[in-house]
Amino acid sequence: MARILAFTNNKGGTGKSTLCVHAAQLTAQQGERVLLIDLTSQGTASSLYLEEAGSLPESETVWASLHPHHQRPLLEVIYTSDKGVDVVPAHSNMAEVAARLATAGSEGCYLLQQQLSPLLTDYDFIFLDTPGELNALTANALQVAERIIIPTRLNRADFSCTEVTLRYINALKGQLTQARTVLTMLDDRYLPGGIWAGSHTGQLYVQAQQIFADVLSPVTIPDSSDLRTAFDHGLTVVEYRPGSAVCRRLLQFVEYEVLL
Ligand SMILES: Nc1ncnc2c1ncn2[C@@H]1O[C@H](COP(=O)(O)OP(=O)(O)OP(=O)(O)O)[C@@H](O)[C@H]1O
Ligand SMILES: [Mg+2]
Repeated sequence: MARILAFTNNKGGTGKSTLCVHAAQLTAQQGERVLLIDLTSQGTASSLYLEEAGSLPESETVWASLHPHHQRPLLEVIYTSDKGVDVVPAHSNMAEVAARLATAGSEGCYLLQQQLSPLLTDYDFIFLDTPGELNALTANALQVAERIIIPTRLNRADFSCTEVTLRYINALKGQLTQARTVLTMLDDRYLPGGIWAGSHTGQLYVQAQQIFADVLSPVTIPDSSDLRTAFDHGLTVVEYRPGSAVCRRLLQFVEYEVLL
C-alpha cells in the first residue's frame, strides 16, 4: 500500500516544490515505485519531470481528474518520466478546480482520496505538491496524506504561516503527529556551532526549535546555488550535481522523513 506524503505551507516560495521533486526522485532511486501528483497552477514539478507539461490541455492533466464535473480516472493522466518517477501533471488553470471543489459540498474534500484508491497498490510512495495557500486542493491533499511535510524558511513571516498551516492540519485531522516542519534554504553557518549561530538569524533557529518542538525535523535543507542553477537548466540537482553536499542532505531527508 502506498504511503502518501503532502508538501504544503500556507506561504508561497518556501521550497515545497523543490523538496517534493527531489524527495520523489531520490525515493525512486532507492528502488521504490513513486508517483508524484502536481496540484499547483505554477506546475514546477510537472515541467521539471515532463517536457510537454506546459502544453497539455486541461483534459490530460490532474485538472480533469479533480474537477467535480469531469472526474476523469487518475490512471488515465499518469505519465512516465525519464527520472524513474511517474507524474500526474497540473494545468495552469488549477484555480478553477479549487473553486469547484470548494462549492461541491463535503465530498469536494474527498475527491483526491477517491481517485487514489485504485492506485494504492501500484505505488510504494505518492508525493503531493500543493499550492502556497490553504484552498480546496490543499484540503484534499492534507485529508488523504499520512505524512505532511511543511517546508519553512528561517524568518518570522514563514514561521507565522507555518503555525497557521499547523493549526489548519490539527483542525482537519484532529492531531499533528503526521506533520513535520523542515527548515529550507538555510545556510549551515546559522546552525548551532556555526560561525553565525549568535546572529539575529541564528537565534531564529533556536526559536524554531521552541515554536515547532516535536514537529521540527532535525534535517535542514541548505541554501544551494547548485540547486537554483539545476532548476534553471530544467534539471534536478540529483542530475546536475550528483554527490553534491545538497544532494547528500536531501538523501538524508528522504531516509529520515520519507522512508522511515
Ligand atoms: N534549498 C534551496 N536552495 C536554493 N534555492 C532554493 C532552495 N529551495 C528552493 N529554492 C528556490 O526558491 C524558489 C522557491 O522554491 P519553490 O518553487 O520550491 O517554492 P514553493 O514553496 O513550491 O513555491 P510556491 O508556493 O510558489 O509553489 C525557487 O526559485 C527555488 O529554485
Ligand atoms: Mg511550488
